[in-house]
Amino acid sequence: MLPTDPTKKISFTRCIKEGDLVIVYERHDCMKAVKVCQNSAFQNRFGAFKHSDWIGKPFGSMVFSNKGGFVYLLAPTPELWTLVLSHRTQILYIADISFVIMYLELVPGCLVLESGTGSGSLTTSLARAVAPTGHVYTFDFHEQRAASAREDFERTGVSSFVTVGVRDIQGQGFPDEFSGLADSIFLDLPQPWLAIPSAKKMLKQDGILCSFSPCIEQVQRSCESLRLNFTGKESCI
Ligand SMILES: C[S@@+](CC[C@H](N)C(=O)[O-])C[C@H]1O[C@@H](n2cnc3c(N)ncnc32)[C@H](O)[C@@H]1O
Repeated sequence: MLPTDPTKKISFTRCIKEGDLVIVYERHDCMKAVKVCQNSAFQNRFGAFKHSDWIGKPFGSMVFSNKGGFVYLLAPTPELWTLVLSHRTQILYIADISFVIMYLELVPGCLVLESGTGSGSLTTSLARAVAPTGHVYTFDFHEQRAASAREDFERTGVSSFVTVGVRDIQGQGFPDEFSGLADSIFLDLPQPWLAIPSAKKMLKQDGILCSFSPCIEQVQRSCESLRLNFTGKESCI
């Protein structure tokens, strides 16, 4: 999926238009996200590429510079976006993202709660997994980070499937309006154990919680909280 058309339909074939975000692919280790503007040019060591030549071409096209050099214009899929996004925080990469999406059993229509949003690397994949009928509500207590993530979701075409909230999830928990409604919850927080009682309240009866922590001490404290808050029949990762 991605980009989406205005009717929220998943589309692989839409042609590039003014204002689109494209991933300019030079090599597997040299890619850049570029916004298409009729009067602009993309410059690299192979020459100048006029954006006006890109408009109307399908995503995936090879385009040429004034010197005969070439690049590919790829759609900003979550896999590629994760490789080119600006890192405002530590991010999840494809291997962990795949694991999370699979074990959260995400399918179109799911309602997902996430915190923190960070750089939105995981959120973009969560959004694709639940589109076109589901929704991701993601929360970060850092206002600027939340605003930048919102802008990125607009640029990558997933904004209709994601709502970004500014909230201290460790201190306040998730908003009460989601009580009993979440199919899945994902936590990537410094003290996730503080958010686990709220997560328990938000989950549907057979909902799934996944908490991601780089340190074993964080995992131990989270496990203690999971044991206290869950009966053992629910699924936690
Ligand atoms: C490691 S980043 C998340 C990265 C994200 N998973 C990604 O793939 O881009 C952790 C985020 O949690 C946020 N955070 C930390 N404490 C928080 C809290 N109490 N409530 C909400 N967000 C919090 C931070 O601002 C930071 O953006």
